[in-house]
Amino acid sequence: MLNLRILILTLQLLAPLSVLLAKRLLKLTAPKTEVIITLKIRMLTLTIVRTRTMLVPMLEDLVFPEIVFFKVVQIIIHPKRYPVHIKMQKAWFYEVHGPKEVLKLGDFPIPYPGQNQLLVQVCAAALNPIDFKLRSNPLVFTDFPVVPGCDMAGIVVAKGDHVSRFEVGDEVYGNIQNFNAKGEFKQLGTLAQFIVVEENLVASKPNNLSFEEAASLPVAVQTAVEGFKTAGFKEGQTIFIVGGAGGVGTLAVQLAKQLYRASLVAATTSTAKVEFLKTLGADEVVDYTKTRYEEVKKKYDLVYDTIGESKNSYVVAKDSAPVIDITWPPSNPRAVHSSLTVSGEILENLRPCLESGKLTAVIDPAGPFHFCDVIKAFEYLETGRARGKVVISPFSVPYLTYEFRNSKLVPQRSFIGY
Ligand SMILES: NC(=O)c1ccc[n+]([C@@H]2O[C@H](COP(=O)([O-])OP(=O)(O)OC[C@H]3O[C@@H](n4cnc5c(N)ncnc54)[C@H](OP(=O)(O)O)[C@@H]3O)[C@@H](O)[C@H]2O)c1
Repeated sequence: MLNLRILILTLQLLAPLSVLLAKRLLKLTAPKTEVIITLKIRMLTLTIVRTRTMLVPMLEDLVFPEIVFFKVVQIIIHPKRYPVHIKMQKAWFYEVHGPKEVLKLGDFPIPYPGQNQLLVQVCAAALNPIDFKLRSNPLVFTDFPVVPGCDMAGIVVAKGDHVSRFEVGDEVYGNIQNFNAKGEFKQLGTLAQFIVVEENLVASKPNNLSFEEAASLPVAVQTAVEGFKTAGFKEGQTIFIVGGAGGVGTLAVQLAKQLYRASLVAATTSTAKVEFLKTLGADEVVDYTKTRYEEVKKKYDLVYDTIGESKNSYVVAKDSAPVIDITWPPSNPRAVHSSLTVSGEILENLRPCLESGKLTAVIDPAGPFHFCDVIKAFEYLETGRARGKVVISPFSVPYLTYEFRNSKLVPQRSFIGY
């Protein structure tokens, strides 16, 4: 037993030292590389700890020195770089592709920002279908572990030397995953307490929006705006939105009415959400459980399909009218695929609309889901029935919780999954 304890402590000691060694030998200075090495070594150590924990449950408490040890080492390595006292954070992650059950909550080092990056304390995040699509399948090239999540709203707690638009303390929001730039997929997504993001990807949070409302917007609104742009939609035209009640659909309906001043906005949804779509500004709501596309009497200047039914929905388009399909691949060769542009500028441009209340964030009433309930939130989103956005908030996680064991109150592991 004692030998095992010594072995584990030695491994824990070697892990952070090998970061220093690797840096020296390979002359690695880039912060990103260092974080990746730290993460990898840390995951290796934790895997050993986990195996140990399974084999010898009595030694569970050894995990605590490991965590404490890592914090101390991080402080020694970078005493001034970290603006916050705690150098470790909680994050949801997966190490293999698969269903929501592959998600685990664990400890990660807090990254520090590169020259053009902000370190943001996340106050709220939102889920998007892309998050579970990436989790389920290897759609982008990335190393494990992956922390999912694109959307967030939070507070800047540190910034790189070349950041010019934001200060520490600013409230920002944005989509941190720049899908437009190849090779820039971040392993550390927004389901973490702290993230780094390039300043050009975020915007100042409008004062009238809560963190939850702001976090719900980026991916969906960037996608919605791009669809109108791709179609060349003009003021006074008519539009038929397939799937008006989802994350993208709720914003497309509002943008069509308020920003692009469509003369007629029609949208589809199921029976229970018909009235809801009218409150968002839809002039006509087609209940898809009762009416087929062929039965819709009018023809429209644009068919905007957020569901991937362009194979059938195109029939409501006027003869030469564009059919936009945001799903990939579009089910109709006539449809044009539209993909979001990731940029903080788009969010900044929408500020007047958001501040005047013309554009509102729609948060699904089942949420916001607590950070500890991320798996439940994914389960809900993956039903395909969400109304607006599935939001995660708050992000505070008690580091230690207590439980009664053998009539004694003892600390419980708060890092679920280990
Ligand atoms: N190209 C891009 O850049 C891009 C960006 C973002 C998202 N996307 C893709 O766009 C799709 C939609 O994203 P999202 O975030 O809006 O998804 P979402 O929020 O999960 O959509 C859920 C909504 O879809 C509605 N819905 C489901 N089946 C429907 C049908 N047959 N007809 C009408 N409405 C239906 C549901 O309403 P009911 O309960 O009433 O059915 C629900 O309100 C996803 O496939 C996503 O991956 C693409």
